Amino acid sequence: MNALSGQSVPVSRDDKPFLNALGGKASARPPFWLMRQAGRYLPEYREVRAKAGSFLDLCYNPDLAAEVTLQPLRRYGMDAAILFSDILVVPHALGRDVRFEEGEGPRLNPVQPGEDVLMVHSHFERVVAPVMETVKTIRSGMQREGFGSTALIGFAGSPWTVACYMVEGRGSRDFHATRLRALQDPAGFGRLIDVVTDATVQYLEAQIRAGAEAVQLFDSWAGVLDETQFRRWVIGPTRKIAAALKQSYPRIPVIGFPRGAGPNIQTYARETGVTAVSIDQTVPVKWAASTLQSMLPVQGNLDPVCLLSGGDALTMATEHICAHLSNGPFLFNLGHGVIKDTPPEHVAQLARLLRG
Ligand code: CP3
Repeated sequence: MNALSGQSVPVSRDDKPFLNALGGKASARPPFWLMRQAGRYLPEYREVRAKAGSFLDLCYNPDLAAEVTLQPLRRYGMDAAILFSDILVVPHALGRDVRFEEGEGPRLNPVQPGEDVLMVHSHFERVVAPVMETVKTIRSGMQREGFGSTALIGFAGSPWTVACYMVEGRGSRDFHATRLRALQDPAGFGRLIDVVTDATVQYLEAQIRAGAEAVQLFDSWAGVLDETQFRRWVIGPTRKIAAALKQSYPRIPVIGFPRGAGPNIQTYARETGVTAVSIDQTVPVKWAASTLQSMLPVQGNLDPVCLLSGGDALTMATEHICAHLSNGPFLFNLGHGVIKDTPPEHVAQLARLLRG
């Protein structure tokens, strides 16, 4: 059943290609969605963004956030929508200052050495409440607009990646300050990771109760850690989150995305208990098929620059990925988010390639 066919009959989860793939089913036409599929490359997003106020205002406005979530589905009929929000909602709900400077990325008040961050449950729940309203609004919008076979993904940042922004106070190429803190004060840093881990479990459980049908953990900075630190700060907390969710919501799949992890992704796939792994464009697909897909479903991994380029580069890279990964459980995606200068027509080209 096609989301664009206009059918609005309720469908069971068995009719959702995205959830079937996460359940281990291979398909000649793999389901697809794109990280950052809602965003600045779409003129209709820029229009809503302009009237929302700040970026966080948009994240906390259920009607506008639901609207931008649905925008890419209307154009391209992806098999999954992803809740429109941001990973930095969690530190914000933990009482940190979070701002998005125009053109400069996020700014937070850095967690100082020796400073303990505590979770005040009532405050946390009050801050994230609008996000749960967004999830409900998206589900009813999907039903109303005939996206009955489209699944809704909830998400959070992984504790390591969220802690990177909390300690550094901003984006960074290599997160030196955070790695230094983790080495010099592992006990204090471990307390921060524990608080973020608990908050993340509660946050994802609330999204699932509100209607998220799968969740993804974005570990964008997993790739800056050595093997030992990776085990401690990536594998450990991810395993805790996956186990907690499996206990409370055993049917909800968890996708882990340890971006840039290199060969550590094999350990991640084997030891964290996630349902599926998302791979970035540096992971060779042949290796992913034999080493990862034999263990669990794989998602990925078109270079976002191929999408920016369009044309033959896009066609060839897409065919290469599908040739190697379509024989097992596979969800087509990018290796990272859609780049903001991407022409919307290139996303249409990709959708045609995948849909035949
Ligand atoms: O469509 C989707 O994928 C859902 C929405 C989503 C956003 N951010 C919206 C967003 C998701 C899943 C995220 C995750 C996120 N946020 C990550 C992990 C994935 C990754 O990109 O590595 C990270 C590290 C963040 C933190 C963050 N948010 C940064 C560093 C920035 C600034 C960089 C930039 O692209 O401007 C953001 C802002 C942000 N989050 C935007 C969007 C659409 C752009 C802001 C705007 O529209 O003004």
